[in-house]
Amino acid sequence: MNIGVLVSGRGTNLQSIIDASLSGKIKSKVVVVISNRSDAFALQRAKNANIPAYFVSSKNKTPEKYDEEIMKILEEYRVDLVVLAGYLKILTEKFINSYYDRIINIHPALLPCFGGKGYYGEFVHKAVIEAGCKVSGCTVHFVRKEIDKGPIIVQKCVPVYDNDTPETLAERILPFEHESLIEAIKIIEDGKYKIEGMRVKLIE
Ligand code: GRF
Repeated sequence: MNIGVLVSGRGTNLQSIIDASLSGKIKSKVVVVISNRSDAFALQRAKNANIPAYFVSSKNKTPEKYDEEIMKILEEYRVDLVVLAGYLKILTEKFINSYYDRIINIHPALLPCFGGKGYYGEFVHKAVIEAGCKVSGCTVHFVRKEIDKGPIIVQKCVPVYDNDTPETLAERILPFEHESLIEAIKIIEDGKYKIEGMRVKLIE
């Protein structure tokens, strides 16, 4: 598959896909990287790997107009699968429907808990700790209209310790995010799955 990755930050999840592609862990290839932030280090990671990288400003644009520009780039690179890797913009319905069940997102918690508007980065981990949870983790899911709600492809669990801070918990979860994203891409590229309601069932 041709993978298009949307990013807003440092890009460690993007890097894990680039590395998995280079090492042959996955057959798919990152063909384009797009960011809504010009200072996203993820753009530099793409350039270091000779992958076309675009900063698209959302200033003075409606979400529809903005997504239209993103989709134009994705079409130009014949993208089959869109990966949201630390992308902090909400997709329009038109975008989601144009790539229905071909957009996946990585979230640093065990959805459906601690997901939705306002739940991103350290805010997620802070809420998990304040709720007294003993476990947390990460989720890769297909993107649907509702934020952080869509059929779950992969989840991984980690313990939450009494002396954890949002930073230490985020650090413990991050390597599992990278693993989960590669596993999810492999499931999709192998095509041995079916979606029934909110459940992604693997087919033997
Ligand atoms: C990750 O924790 C991801 O789950 C969340 O944003 C963070 C992005 O990290 N949505 P990176 O930019 O991939 O390092």
